[in-house]
Amino acid sequence: MLKTVVIVGASKGIGAELMESFASIDGFRVFGFARNMQLQREKWSLNPFVHCLDIDLTSENLQLQILDVLKNEKVDFLINNAGLLVNKPFMELTPSDILESYKVNVLSVFTTIQAILPLMNNQGHIVNISSMGGFQGTMKFAGLAAYSSSKAALVNLTEMLAEEYKHTQLKFNCLCLGAVQTEMLQAAFPGYEAPVQPAEMAEYISDFTRNAWRWMNGKVIPVSLSTP
Ligand SMILES: NC(=O)c1ccc[n+]([C@@H]2O[C@H](COP(=O)([O-])OP(=O)(O)OC[C@H]3O[C@@H](n4cnc5c(N)ncnc54)[C@H](OP(=O)(O)O)[C@@H]3O)[C@@H](O)[C@H]2O)c1
Repeated sequence: MLKTVVIVGASKGIGAELMESFASIDGFRVFGFARNMQLQREKWSLNPFVHCLDIDLTSENLQLQILDVLKNEKVDFLINNAGLLVNKPFMELTPSDILESYKVNVLSVFTTIQAILPLMNNQGHIVNISSMGGFQGTMKFAGLAAYSSSKAALVNLTEMLAEEYKHTQLKFNCLCLGAVQTEMLQAAFPGYEAPVQPAEMAEYISDFTRNAWRWMNGKVIPVSLSTP
């Protein structure tokens, strides 16, 4: 029987590799969202099981846009992988920097889950992608106040959802990633070379999403070789 995964933040970096990972598994329908899915759309144009949608997570009618795409679907897995990183000294952060960071990294996750939760199959698994910067007690880096604090909120949201839905078979877990070689890492730490490639991390996340719901719920897991 076909399973359906929704990958949010699927245009590049780890998300693009998640598309690759799920699309290569027989029996999966894959929906990928981001602002600019053109390259992915071209790449998967001959695969009828892969759907690429241009959706801006900061848009006012986000929930309607998601429902418009998924209204007749049953969803098994949702991966909230999108992220926005602003790297600026604290005193230079504008209200817009802070709001945009929270919109992409936290508020859109509320909205996405509110849209998709009613469509989920019984044994669904929602995986939120946070950061070691949002994991309590880890090393912190100057310039990442908006990013890391929003990723910490995502950690807590995951725990809250697991509690609120513990009477169901739905599972909610959060992965706090260490350094992975992507555009985002370069924006935060120019010149740094991460020990993990996006495809390697995507393989881990894909496997975790498909299998870990059997054994864990409400868990916040550091997945990190280095930070950074
Ligand atoms: N790379 C690392 O070292 C690292 C470490 C810790 C955590 N993480 C987390 O891992 C996840 C993936 O990161 P990455 O390194 O692969 O980053 P990336 O290459 O910058 O990709 C970020 C993704 O988020 C999407 N996105 C950003 N703003 C969006 C918006 N307004 N609407 C829709 N989509 C939006 C981007 O698509 P568009 O630009 O096309 O919209 C892109 O697909 C993020 O949550 C990040 O915080 C990464």
